[in-house]
Amino acid sequence: MGSEEDSFNDRVIREMTLQTDSLLSSVVVLSKKCNEKQIDTLSAQLALNDCRNRYKKIEGILAYFFPGEAFRLNKAVVPSIEEDDEVSPEVPFSGFQYVESILYSDSLGFQRKELKAAIDQIYFLISNLPISYSQFFFEERSVWEALQMQLVRQFMLGFADFETVDSKNGVVESAFVLNGIHELINAAYFDAAEIKKTEMTNFFNEIRRSEKTLSSYKIGEINYFAFYVDNYNSLSASLSKLRDIMLSEKNLYFTTAINFQNQSIFDPHAFNTYFFVPGKTHANQSEVAELGRLLFFDPALSANNLRACASCHQPGKAFTDGLPLSQSFEPGKFLTRNAPTIINSVLQRKLFHDGRAFTFEDQAGRVMSNPLEMHNDFQTVADKLVHSSEYRSLFKSAFSGTEDTAVTSRSILVAIAEYERTLIGMNTKFDKSISGREMLLNNDEVEGFNIFMGKAACGTCHFLPLFNSLIPPVYVETEWEIIGAPSAQLTNPRKLDDDIGRYAIIPVDIFRNSFKTPGLRNIALTAPYMHNGVFKTLDEVIDFYDRGGGIGLGYEVPNQTLPEEPLNLSPTEKFQLKSFLETLNDTISLNTIPGRLPEFEDNELLNGRKIGGDY
Ligand code: HEC
Ligand code: HEC
Repeated sequence: MGSEEDSFNDRVIREMTLQTDSLLSSVVVLSKKCNEKQIDTLSAQLALNDCRNRYKKIEGILAYFFPGEAFRLNKAVVPSIEEDDEVSPEVPFSGFQYVESILYSDSLGFQRKELKAAIDQIYFLISNLPISYSQFFFEERSVWEALQMQLVRQFMLGFADFETVDSKNGVVESAFVLNGIHELINAAYFDAAEIKKTEMTNFFNEIRRSEKTLSSYKIGEINYFAFYVDNYNSLSASLSKLRDIMLSEKNLYFTTAINFQNQSIFDPHAFNTYFFVPGKTHANQSEVAELGRLLFFDPALSANNLRACASCHQPGKAFTDGLPLSQSFEPGKFLTRNAPTIINSVLQRKLFHDGRAFTFEDQAGRVMSNPLEMHNDFQTVADKLVHSSEYRSLFKSAFSGTEDTAVTSRSILVAIAEYERTLIGMNTKFDKSISGREMLLNNDEVEGFNIFMGKAACGTCHFLPLFNSLIPPVYVETEWEIIGAPSAQLTNPRKLDDDIGRYAIIPVDIFRNSFKTPGLRNIALTAPYMHNGVFKTLDEVIDFYDRGGGIGLGYEVPNQTLPEEPLNLSPTEKFQLKSFLETLNDTISLNTIPGRLPEFEDNELLNGRKIGGDY
C-alpha cells in the first residue's frame, strides 16, 4: 500500500490527465481551423491528424475503461443501430472519423454545421474525461489487459487504415500508440526496482525499433507482413513478459477472446474457444466431443436415416458440400443458401449467413426441424437413439458427473456442439509464417497479403487473424456488410440477389441485403462462394471486388458498405492476392471420419446405415 498520492491508480490518473489535456489543446486548434470563414482544408486535415495521434496515445485505456466515450470519439462512419434500443435505434455519426469524412469530402462547404457540431461534441467528451478519471479506480491488472488489447486493436485494425480511410494516417498513429504505452508504463513504474527496470528498458527498446520501422514506411508501400514477423510478434511477447514481471497480482482475468499468455496472436491456440459461442464446459470434454463426432456423422439423426450433418458438411470438402445451394431433403429441391464450412465456426458470435442463431444448440435445432434439411426433431432422434445400448452407454460415460447422462435432445445437442468446438484449424502455412515459427510463404504470397491489408482493403472487413466479421480486439461485435453479390439467375442484365439477408431478422433498412462477413480460412477448399454460391472460383470473387462490388457492376445497391470505386488491381496483383488466400488452409486432423457407428439391437436396416450419410 504506498502513500496516498503515490499509488498506481494516482499515477495512471496523473498521466492520463496530462495526455488528455494535450489532446484537448489539439482539439482547440482543430476547432479554430474549422471555424474560419474560409477553411484551409490541408491545414485542417493536418490539425485533425494531430488530434488523432494524441487520441491514439490514450485510446487503449479509454476503450477499456470508458468504452462509451471511446466509441463516440472514434466511431466508424457507417450507419449502425443499437439492437436493443427500440425507440431510436440508429446511432448518429460522431467523432474523429466523421470529422475526417467531412474534411476530405467535396461537399465540405455544405457540411459546416455538421462539422462544427461534431468537433464541439469531441471537445465536450474530452474535456469531461479528467473528472471521470479522478473518480475512477484503475486496477493494475486491468490496465495491463487494456494495453495488450490496444496493441491488438491498433495492429489488427488501425494499422491497415480501418479508421483513417481518407487520411491514411494509420501507420503514423501506430507509432503514437506505442509511444502512449511507453509513456504510461514509464509514468506508472518510474521508481521500479533495478531488476524490473531492465525488463522495462528491453520493452522500450523493442518499441523504439518498431517506431523506426514504422517511420520508414511510405503510404502505399507498407510491408505489413514484414512488420508482423519482425516487430509485432516481439512487441506483443515482450509486453506479456513485462506484465508478468511487473504484476504482483498473478490472478489474471480470463474474460478476453485472446489468450494473452500466448506468444503471438497467430499461434494455433491464441483464442479461447469458449469465449465465442456460449457453451458449457464438461469434465470429460474430449469424450463428449468424440460422442458428438459420431452423432455428426450418423444419418440416424434424419427422418429417413439417410442424411447426416456430414452430408452437407463433408470433411473431404472442408466441411461444405461443394454445391452453390445445398440439396433439400426432398429430391430435386434446393435450400436457399450455400453451406458454409464448420471449421472455425466456433470462432464467431452469430451463426448462419444472417446471424439468426448464436449457439450451436440453437443452430442445430433449427437445421434438424427444417423440413428441407433433416426433417426431424431432437426428441424423435433421442427416442430413436435410446434403442441402442451402445449409444446409451456412450452418453452415460461421456456425461458422467453431470445431469446429461441419459440420451435426451439436450445431451445430443451438447455433444454435437462440443464436437464442432474441436473443428479449429488455425495452423495454416500463413500462420506458421507470420508468427515467425517457420517461413513458408513465397514472394507472391507475401505480396498478396500486403495487397489484402493495403490496396484492396480486404482486411477492413475480414479482420485479422480470424479473417471473419468479429471486430478486434474484443471479438464480440459482428459486422454486417452489404457488398451486392449478384443473383445466381443468369438474367440479362444480371441483377442484385434478392435474398434480403439480415433484414429478415432485424427489419431496419441498413440491414437490407446485408450478410455476415464470413471467415476466409480454408477458402481455397470451399468453392463455390457467397451466400448463394454465385461465384465458382476465387478469380471470380476477386474480379467482383476489383470492379467495386454490386454498384461497380451496375446494380442498384442501397447502402452498399463496400467502397464502390474499382480497386484497379493489375493481373499480377490479382494473382498474388489469390496466392495469399490459398495459404489459409488447415484441415489437418479435422478430417477424421468415424470408422463405425454405434449398433442398434434387432434393427438390421438401421445398422446398415452409411457413415456420414448420403447426400
Ligand atoms: C441439407 C444440408 C445441410 C445439413 C443436413 C446440415 N446443414 Fe448445416 N448448414 C447448411 C446450410 C445451407 C447452412 C447456411 C444456412 C444459412 O445461413 O441460412 C448451414 C449452416 C450451418 C452452421 C452455421 C455456420 C456459420 O458459420 O454460420 C452450422 C454450425 C451448421 N450448419 C451445423 C450443422 C449441423 C450440426 C448439422 C446436423 C445437425 C447440419 N449443419 C446439417 C446445410 C446443411
Ligand atoms: C465491406 C466489407 C468487405 C470487404 C472490404 C471485403 N469483403 Fe469479402 N465478404 C464480405 C461479405 C459480407 C461477404 C459475404 C457476402 C455474401 O455472402 O453475399 C464476403 C465474402 C467473401 C468471400 C466468399 C466467402 C465464402 O465462403 O463464400 C471471399 C472469398 C471474400 N469475401 C474475399 C474478399 C477479398 C479477397 C477481399 C478484398 C479484395 C474482400 N473479401 C473484401 C465483406 C467484405
